[in-house]
Amino acid sequence: MSKITGVGKYIPSKLVTNKDLETKLNTSDEWIQQRSGIIQRYWITEGETTSGMAHKAALEALKDAGKKASDVDAIVFATITPDYYFPGSGVLLQKMLCPERTIPALDVRNACSGFLYALSIADAWVKSGMYKCVLVVGSEIHSTGLDKSPEGRDVSVLFGDGAGAVVVEPSKPGEGLLVHKLHSEGEYAEKLMVQRPSSNDYPNRLDKDETVTDKSFFPVMDGRFVFKHAVTRMCEVLVEACHSIDVKPKDIDFVLAHQANMRINQMVLEQLGIPQDKTLNTIQKYGNTTAGTLPIGMDEAKRAGLLKPGQLVAMVAFGSGFTWGASLMRV
Ligand code: UT7
Repeated sequence: MSKITGVGKYIPSKLVTNKDLETKLNTSDEWIQQRSGIIQRYWITEGETTSGMAHKAALEALKDAGKKASDVDAIVFATITPDYYFPGSGVLLQKMLCPERTIPALDVRNACSGFLYALSIADAWVKSGMYKCVLVVGSEIHSTGLDKSPEGRDVSVLFGDGAGAVVVEPSKPGEGLLVHKLHSEGEYAEKLMVQRPSSNDYPNRLDKDETVTDKSFFPVMDGRFVFKHAVTRMCEVLVEACHSIDVKPKDIDFVLAHQANMRINQMVLEQLGIPQDKTLNTIQKYGNTTAGTLPIGMDEAKRAGLLKPGQLVAMVAFGSGFTWGASLMRV
């Protein structure tokens, strides 16, 4: 068995309130709060990087687990906003964390479900005995890639920057990570995407004398479509995960849900008959930090004393791909 033994987060310092976005994006604090629950988010300041934020979150998680960087056997790094197109950000974290040791670093790019996909890999590595101490991070810098004109307002008001990390280690039977259920449906890949840079451009766009400044570098989303699928799939996968270990959604003591929209999470809990006080939403403060949302939420919940020994905790996420998943753990 394996369990999460430490958790940490890093949030950059630049506070951006809804009010700050009103003029430039032709939006309003009222619209953003009503439709998404978001009040503010944090964006990076110049010089901060996805790997650098992950490093800070990782050091917090290692401290929480009572471990040192030299104890880490492997890194799984979830992000859709890496420092470079390639190589992935995992190797940059390896350089910061333990340059003298050539531990493996794997990048996962499953967007909002990225943390759960990454966690399932770490869990399998530890359970199989391949590695004993695996660092899982979710880190995103959205602020530098958003369309900050009125055309991009539907997406750009939603996203924030931030990182979270957990340490996964062996545990006693019956405690820790119990099950992961993961899915994908590429039919809807274009419903929430950033199209470029793309290897599909043929011939190279610069060969065609095109100026590479078009909107295809910005995220686009069919918001209503994504919303409906998010509610349906998150409910389905939570039921599936519960069924696989012979418990019911009502047996869940605490839910850590991806933070894309407060209304999505409220509907999921309502449809499953789980009381709203059995979760902690952080979207009000941080917006949607994609792969960062779950470890950031876990860090806040742990520090607030909401995760108690023996509790059955569910994690659930849905996002671009579409990809979605749920994990259950006994704290
Ligand atoms: O994490 C990855 C997964 N992502 C999600 O799960 C997000 C899912 N989708 C959503 O959360 C919601 O669909 C949104 C928050 C993105 C949008 O809420 P909505 O209630 O679905 O609004 P809408 O897109 O249907 O737009 C309603 C109106 C439109 O105006 P008209 O056509 O009714 O005149 C939009 O142009 O709101 C307008 N609008 C805005 N107004 C002010 C769209 N964005 C904004 C904005 N400020 N930022």
